Amino acid sequence: MTTSRDFTGKVVLITGSSGGIGAVTAVEFARLGAQVVVTGRRKDRVSAVAKQCAEASPTGAKALEVVADVTNDDDCRRLVSDTIKTFKKLDILINNAGRGIVESIWDEDILDKYELIMNTNLRSVVRLTHLCVEHLEKTKGNIVNVSSIGAFKPRGPCYSYSMSKAAMDMFTKCVALELGPKGIRANTINPGSVKTEFIENTLNVSKA
Ligand SMILES: NC(=O)c1ccc[n+]([C@@H]2O[C@H](COP(=O)([O-])OP(=O)(O)OC[C@H]3O[C@@H](n4cnc5c(N)ncnc54)[C@H](OP(=O)(O)O)[C@@H]3O)[C@@H](O)[C@H]2O)c1
Repeated sequence: MTTSRDFTGKVVLITGSSGGIGAVTAVEFARLGAQVVVTGRRKDRVSAVAKQCAEASPTGAKALEVVADVTNDDDCRRLVSDTIKTFKKLDILINNAGRGIVESIWDEDILDKYELIMNTNLRSVVRLTHLCVEHLEKTKGNIVNVSSIGAFKPRGPCYSYSMSKAAMDMFTKCVALELGPKGIRANTINPGSVKTEFIENTLNVSKA
């Protein structure tokens, strides 16, 4: 097994890389020589992270910037097609974009909240994995799904978030089973608390 951290020539698409964990991941992959795709809904943040990637890259490689909403199917298609058009291949898909919500089973709008979270955290992952699999097959690539410790243990009333991450873990196992024989690996990581805008965003959307 190789333990090289040299990603020279590898193409890495990281969703939710305009901020938080995804942004740091993009910059780190750039530092390790990869060509990265930076994406999120906020154009200014996408550009700022892309600039940091170019600065971190040993060759000053320019990151591809794609402003896209992962809940929108056309945006997902454009994200993948722009990646392939620009870099001609894909080695690693990191499904990281996600959001949280605090909710109660008493909430009148609980199904709206459920749909928002499931569309962002789960449906987009299935969609993007489907769109990327033909490209990952060619490179014998990797899928990394950013789940959460919330997949194992509910914290407060966060039904949709915890369910979305538990389902993501099972999706990863299913996809690993099907794609492993083709040489594509799929793994989940389940972080605990990380200081990002996530908590603030979670509380804001819960109030909305
Ligand atoms: N922070 C934690 O404590 C923690 C713990 C466990 C797991 N996680 C997981 O780690 C992942 C990253 O979280 P984070 O802490 O880095 O959160 P964050 O700072 O809020 O960043 C979330 C990222 O996802 C993007 N995003 C959100 N909704 C999107 C959408 N509809 N379309 C496209 N991009 C979207 C955001 O970009 P735009 O706003 O520009 O679209 C941003 O780049 C999430 O999946 C989260 O569930 C976080």
